[in-house]
Amino acid sequence: MTERLDKWLCTRTSFSRKDVKAIIKNGRVQVNGITATAADAHFGETDMVTLDGKPLAGEKHVYIMLNKPKGVVSVSSAPNDRTVLDLLPQELRRSGLFPAGRLDRDTTGFVLITDDGDFAHRILSPRRHVTKTYTATLRDEVRDWYVESFRNGIVLGDGTRCMSADLVLTDDSHRVIVHLREGRYHQVKRMFASLGNQVVELHRDAIGGLTLDPSLREGECRLISDEEVHRITE
Ligand code: URA
Repeated sequence: MTERLDKWLCTRTSFSRKDVKAIIKNGRVQVNGITATAADAHFGETDMVTLDGKPLAGEKHVYIMLNKPKGVVSVSSAPNDRTVLDLLPQELRRSGLFPAGRLDRDTTGFVLITDDGDFAHRILSPRRHVTKTYTATLRDEVRDWYVESFRNGIVLGDGTRCMSADLVLTDDSHRVIVHLREGRYHQVKRMFASLGNQVVELHRDAIGGLTLDPSLREGECRLISDEEVHRITE
């Protein structure tokens, strides 16, 4: 099945029909590496469309990796705050996008944004064991016995017992790597609080087998390829 280029661009981005016409006229759109000149050109599902050299998502669902900065909230809309969706460039915006899982306002790192509710459910469900990896900087020096406590399941202040988690020490005595298989509210901070310590910086490095792209600066994002999406749940 083929579709008109201008219509396709309008439904996959937040550009208006008028914007789309201008964008095509200015030679910013390429189809399979060739600059598109006609808004009414037809093309098929397997054709690769780029805007300013960056691939546009033609698939049913999109998956975006964002490096969240501090001060931004991981919700779809917040009247008085900047949200992770506000950071998306116009060409990646489309209706139905939401962050799959939350990072606290002061946590940085990997946020996955998608419009695929089933996939989000799969990676967030504790039963699926998709590991989230964090680097935590602690107020007080890490103690060796923390590793065992994490493995046995930390009991939070409200009595909740966490699932077994992996704590990896680094050569910085205030910095640790945490691998969690569930995502409770403020979980990493509350786990260390239970041990009498405090998290002063928190960064999410990876979701499942997919690591945050080191070339993304804070506030930047990019589409995730199919192969990378699979890596998340591997
Ligand atoms: N655990 C926390 O405490 N905060 C986050 O943002 C993520 C995990």
